[in-house]
Amino acid sequence: MTHRPLGVGVVGAGRVGAVLAAALRAAGHPVVAAAGESDASRARIAALLPDVPIEKPTAVARAADVLLLTVPDDMLGNVVAMLTASGAIREGQYVVHTSGRHGLAVLEPAREAGARVVAMHPAMTFTGTALDLERLGGCVFGLTAGAGERAVAEALVADLGGRPMWVPEEMRTLYHAGLAHGANHLVTLVTEAMEMLAAAGADDPSGTLRPLLTAALDNALAHGDAALTGPIVRGDAGTVEAHLEDLLANAPQTVASYVAMARATLDRAVTDGRLLPIRALKIHDLLARASVAAATPTTTLAPVVPPTVVDRTTHLR
Ligand SMILES: NC(=O)c1ccc[n+]([C@@H]2O[C@H](COP(=O)([O-])OP(=O)(O)OC[C@H]3O[C@@H](n4cnc5c(N)ncnc54)[C@H](OP(=O)(O)O)[C@@H]3O)[C@@H](O)[C@H]2O)c1
Repeated sequence: MTHRPLGVGVVGAGRVGAVLAAALRAAGHPVVAAAGESDASRARIAALLPDVPIEKPTAVARAADVLLLTVPDDMLGNVVAMLTASGAIREGQYVVHTSGRHGLAVLEPAREAGARVVAMHPAMTFTGTALDLERLGGCVFGLTAGAGERAVAEALVADLGGRPMWVPEEMRTLYHAGLAHGANHLVTLVTEAMEMLAAAGADDPSGTLRPLLTAALDNALAHGDAALTGPIVRGDAGTVEAHLEDLLANAPQTVASYVAMARATLDRAVTDGRLLPIRALKIHDLLARASVAAATPTTTLAPVVPPTVVDRTTHLR
């Protein structure tokens, strides 16, 4: 522990709250009380915070030196207002939330009541089980706090085994959008890819994808756009066209996301200087046609562009 023990209270004992409180407890901070009414929250308290008293949120707040507000993002403002209005927030107390999107503004009522406010977002996905505890090692925490709270905020992150990253108040939403785009949309992308492989007869879609996706992720994290391989960056319009025809016929529900990702990939390949704009044009046309085809009963890549443009496209072949 990097500083004196602080009594931790948690409102509520969800996936994040129960795990962070358990980790702070393991680091030497007593967990004085937890709030959670659903069966799931009660089960997490029993599993991760045994012997911690279950109290109403106001009682948790009154008992805590460090109050973790780990409620859904959209509830945070109401919970802060309610706890403050009821007089449960006191001067000098640390009030900490774990939302990525929110910064300090949502904690303003607590700050006005004299609390020391911190936004401390773990850039991690949580299951709400002990599995998460080891994942906190090296996890980055997006921190926003005033100068007076920086040292304690960093010490709490260190006690959790994490690494601090300071995020300016006005950058919180962009910071969170970046994480959500990467982590949440990755899940959709991978799941769609597994479904395509399953439909193609693969008996182990995840095992088939794992080595490829692991290498692609590692390369992208290390090299950015330079990691890109495949038909788009090669300008292989025929292969993209074949993909689109097949998806329209066999997996039409994936066409919209394939087209959206292909467009973004195409633009990045051109900007990166790896694909000539003139070669990208043909793929752009194919993607536009696939969008229209996916939105209409026809499932083929019928030309939707004027004949002159079709001629130009043919010429590009
Ligand atoms: N899940 C993640 O992977 C993750 C990762 C990083 C950050 N975060 C952030 O961490 C925060 C919590 O997310 P979570 O996923 O842990 O949420 P969660 O699993 O849905 O848990 C939410 C907790 O808040 C309680 N709660 C809900 N409404 C409340 C209210 N009005 N008053 C008091 N307690 C209330 C719930 O209690 P009941 O069960 O009794 O309803 C539950 O214990 C969010 O800000 C989220 O953005 C989440």
